[in-house]
Amino acid sequence: MQTVHALDPLRNAVADLHKAGAVALVPTMGALHEGHLTLVREAKAQAKSVVVSIFVNPLQFGANEDLDAYPRQLARDSALLETEGVDLLWAPTVEAMYPAGFASNIAVAGVSEGLCGAARPGHFDGVATVVCKLFNQVMPDVALFGEKDWQQLAVIRRMARDLDLTRPAADAVLGVPTVREADGLAMSSRNAYLSAEERQAAVALPAAMRRAIAAIEGGADVPVTLARLQADILEGGFRSIDYAELRDADDLTPLSARSDRPMRLIVAARIGPARLIDNMPVAPG
Ligand code: PAF
Repeated sequence: MQTVHALDPLRNAVADLHKAGAVALVPTMGALHEGHLTLVREAKAQAKSVVVSIFVNPLQFGANEDLDAYPRQLARDSALLETEGVDLLWAPTVEAMYPAGFASNIAVAGVSEGLCGAARPGHFDGVATVVCKLFNQVMPDVALFGEKDWQQLAVIRRMARDLDLTRPAADAVLGVPTVREADGLAMSSRNAYLSAEERQAAVALPAAMRRAIAAIEGGADVPVTLARLQADILEGGFRSIDYAELRDADDLTPLSARSDRPMRLIVAARIGPARLIDNMPVAPG
């Protein structure tokens, strides 16, 4: 596996990979876990070569968020990617990604609003901006993202459609299902912030979501079910809930009744020092 930290060597390495065949990109912020490795394995199934980017993107962190505390483990991550047979690791410095004078911003209206967009103003601008740059830098035929960040996936697909991107095209922005721990908790780099006790309690989130989905699919009233869901999560040991909503799976329109289109139950809740997000599909009625 080749590792590059600056744009010129990246362009040379990427040109060589494109000559050999299709290229898949897996953008990450590092602190890799099984969820990321699942994306890498899927990327290998989709293309001849796999590029993984590791970049803790300052643009997507708010002033009071965990940018400084965010785990940085390049040597460990690099060893994991090597084992997975990744071809190229793109680990730019902040200066390589945002040279002095950098002044542009991509804002995707609609799907960026509400949910994590409400609690983290500017977050999805930061995500869209860095992902657009990563797409232009690597020019992948396909790019893979975890479905765990459902709103992020919707934002990136909207951006790819709106900006007529071709590498990758919007339909080559692929979502890969969330990887879960044995007890059902969605894998996340932020799970590392939890104490043993908090980690045990955190399973209340997916468990309560599964009960709510069974209720909605069984015909229960949606607002009543969402209120019950919130109560269950708090009783399970979470200290607060940022949101717990039923949304259209594609355009993220809020829903107060079951729809005949694919839906998503989407939740963000805080336990100990961590803010955990999760989402699950709800069958159309
Ligand atoms: O999901 C992430 O890890 C990040 O938001 C991403 C897509 C790599 C952009 O920084």
